[in-house]
Amino acid sequence: MDLPLAEQGRAHPDGAAAQGAAKGVTHHPHRHDSGEKHVAGRAVYADDIAELPSLVHVHIAYAGFARGRVRVDLAAVREAPGVLAVLTGDDATGENNIGPVVHDEPMLAVEGGAGEVHYHGQPLFAVVAETRRAARLAVRRAHVDETPEPAIVTIADAIRAGSRVDDDYVMAVGDAPAAIAAAPHRVSGSMEIGGQEHFALEGQVALATPGEDDDVHVVSSNQHPSECQEVVARVLGVPNHAVTVEVRRLGGGFGGKETQGNLAAAVAALAARLTGRPAKVRLDRDDDFIMTGKRHDFRIDYEAGFDGEGRLLGVVFEQHARCGWSLDLSRAIADRAMFHADNAYFIPAMRVLSHRWRTNTCSNTAFRGFGGPQGMVGIERVIEHVAHHLGRDPLEVRLLNAYRPEAPATRRMTHYHMEVEDAVAAEMMEELAGSADYRRRRAEIATWNAASPVLKRGIALTPVKFGISFTTTFLNQAGALVHVYKDGSVMINHGGIEMGQGVYIKVAQVAADAFGLPLERVKITATRTDKVPNTSATAASSGADMNAMAVLDACETIKARLAAFAAGRDGAVARFSGGAVEVAGRTLAFGDLVMEAYLARISLSATGYYATPKIHWDREGACGRPFYYFAYGAAVSEAAIDTLTGETRLLRADILHDVGRSLNPAVDLGQIEGGFIQGLGWLTTEELYWDDGRLKTHAPSTYKIPTVADRPPDLRLAIWAKGENRELTIRRSKAVGEPPFMLAISAHQAIGAAVAAAGGDPTRLDAPATPERVLMSL
Ligand code: MTE
Ligand code: MOS
Repeated sequence: MDLPLAEQGRAHPDGAAAQGAAKGVTHHPHRHDSGEKHVAGRAVYADDIAELPSLVHVHIAYAGFARGRVRVDLAAVREAPGVLAVLTGDDATGENNIGPVVHDEPMLAVEGGAGEVHYHGQPLFAVVAETRRAARLAVRRAHVDETPEPAIVTIADAIRAGSRVDDDYVMAVGDAPAAIAAAPHRVSGSMEIGGQEHFALEGQVALATPGEDDDVHVVSSNQHPSECQEVVARVLGVPNHAVTVEVRRLGGGFGGKETQGNLAAAVAALAARLTGRPAKVRLDRDDDFIMTGKRHDFRIDYEAGFDGEGRLLGVVFEQHARCGWSLDLSRAIADRAMFHADNAYFIPAMRVLSHRWRTNTCSNTAFRGFGGPQGMVGIERVIEHVAHHLGRDPLEVRLLNAYRPEAPATRRMTHYHMEVEDAVAAEMMEELAGSADYRRRRAEIATWNAASPVLKRGIALTPVKFGISFTTTFLNQAGALVHVYKDGSVMINHGGIEMGQGVYIKVAQVAADAFGLPLERVKITATRTDKVPNTSATAASSGADMNAMAVLDACETIKARLAAFAAGRDGAVARFSGGAVEVAGRTLAFGDLVMEAYLARISLSATGYYATPKIHWDREGACGRPFYYFAYGAAVSEAAIDTLTGETRLLRADILHDVGRSLNPAVDLGQIEGGFIQGLGWLTTEELYWDDGRLKTHAPSTYKIPTVADRPPDLRLAIWAKGENRELTIRRSKAVGEPPFMLAISAHQAIGAAVAAAGGDPTRLDAPATPERVLMSL
């Protein structure tokens, strides 16, 4: 099952050994448990589950304009061939609302024959039919009277109209305006940062099966089954206990299924309830693009004061987030953008003001990094601007400003008053600058550029410091259920969702080691709300951190019972390894001990629980320790631009990333590479375009995600050999899901460096750096 060490040795010279992999299953580069099944097409996704003959299909009809009112006459739809029912908001047996944090999202906007439209893509009504095609065709028979009103589409529109979805919020340390006024140098500017479509290969889908009484079982492609359960129960008007949500795997989530999966689940459940038949909702790609929320686009205005070397003295940020038509998760996302406005730098005086604008566009939502990337792009632009202004190498400015482990605590203090305890970004930047030969290559590129009039190259090194924990403190809890069967095989279940990132295999590795068993003895099972209740979304990169801890807690409970039984006293110490248990001077096979314990009527099943320690956050005072720890990384990118066409290409990237002591180096390298490439798409090619409030880029023909050809031909990944979590996380690992995404900022800045080499202004290069934008900055 292990990948040959050589396969990951390219990335990690010491292989797994440096990650402490001498013994056990954890820290080894085990293959993703479903890797082969993914490739062979044998992995079962929601839409692959065998359909019962009684299954009905549901199509959700949505508004074709951005704002106004509709009156609908659905009589002809009901008469259409194959149609069994037409659902509007009136049909909700509970509340017609699926808003996740506040109840501000009608499930189906049409009630009493009319409805209010807040965005192009607003779900209006749903058609239940014998086939998907019949449901789609029937929608065309609807008579829809549209009364459009002027829509608020852009951030500028929202500012003009004062259209807010949430209150402004400020985080501050020191007197930034005064520090800037007194500084020897000043720069200011504004940067637009585009949004991003999740484009998971598996789109939104749900399958609901009615049970006895009020019961319904829902298979949903969803990162947050417990919330999905609550939303379905709310819409149906039944207690949570009547609803079971099951998720085996997602074909990608990336934050796009934290809340956005709930519409399909709620509509499918309602259709199942009303028809008494299993019901499926599956959005096609264009509908998915148009209806569901995306990454928030931002405009970040900034002003910075600094000394002659580039040392930041004061920074003011004004962050404008386009949130779309409803609140969704925008409060926490905009907060996280603020939390990351310092990235890896100590700024003695800083003020971050955040505006959360309500627009008539899809409700923007979680996306890998959860606002953090946008905040980080802001400060990295400031550094770029300062370096450009002073004519210095941006890397030297970065190193000058980086948090330092040897600095006094007052100089390791963030603008939200949390001390950065393990400030390793500077050390990682130096190490990577060495291994990637940054300084020599930078000089060579300058020489090369001097002789190349049309093509220009640029190189940039940027760091990442990303806070790990949900900043909504109560979400930092997890539960687990572990059974040991009579034959000594083990079943584990927890709240974590497998979306390709490898949380299942990591947790299974930890459980295998806990019992001293080979991985094959541990069965990974689908996440279900009736096995482990009240779970949090698998998000904030904390899936393995929290669920592995909860599973370990359950394992330890069972082990303590087995040890007490074998030794004949409570608190006995036993060693579980190599399939055997050493206890009270005896060595027993694990399976034998389990069988003996069973016969002696010892419980072999336990729940487990984990709550992240140390964290607290006072939102009113904008002060506290919202993060248990930070994950770090650094990347060097080298890019080329064509100054005539604006085209760009990434030539080489070197990445050094801190995952603490990796739970699974193979999986972690996959996350690092995938995150980087996804970030590259966000910052270079993926552009969302709204025309009059209508999304025009809603298919791969008009929206370009990276392909295999966009991966730089020379890509060197390394897990940081010195990585070690100073906190007592699971096996001293660090979360890895989101942080590598932000390594791609180096690619944007490499393009900026090439723009500068061509005599252009890199501080005018917005994101994504499409050919048009590159040309404009020239
Ligand atoms: N990797 C894959 N292959 N697919 C995904 O959908 N989602 C990302 C990241 N990596 C994702 C992924 C996001 S947004 C998060 S928050 C984390 O995985 C969630 O999983 P974790 O907490 O187990 O790292
Ligand atoms: Mo990830 S954006 O926290 O699902």
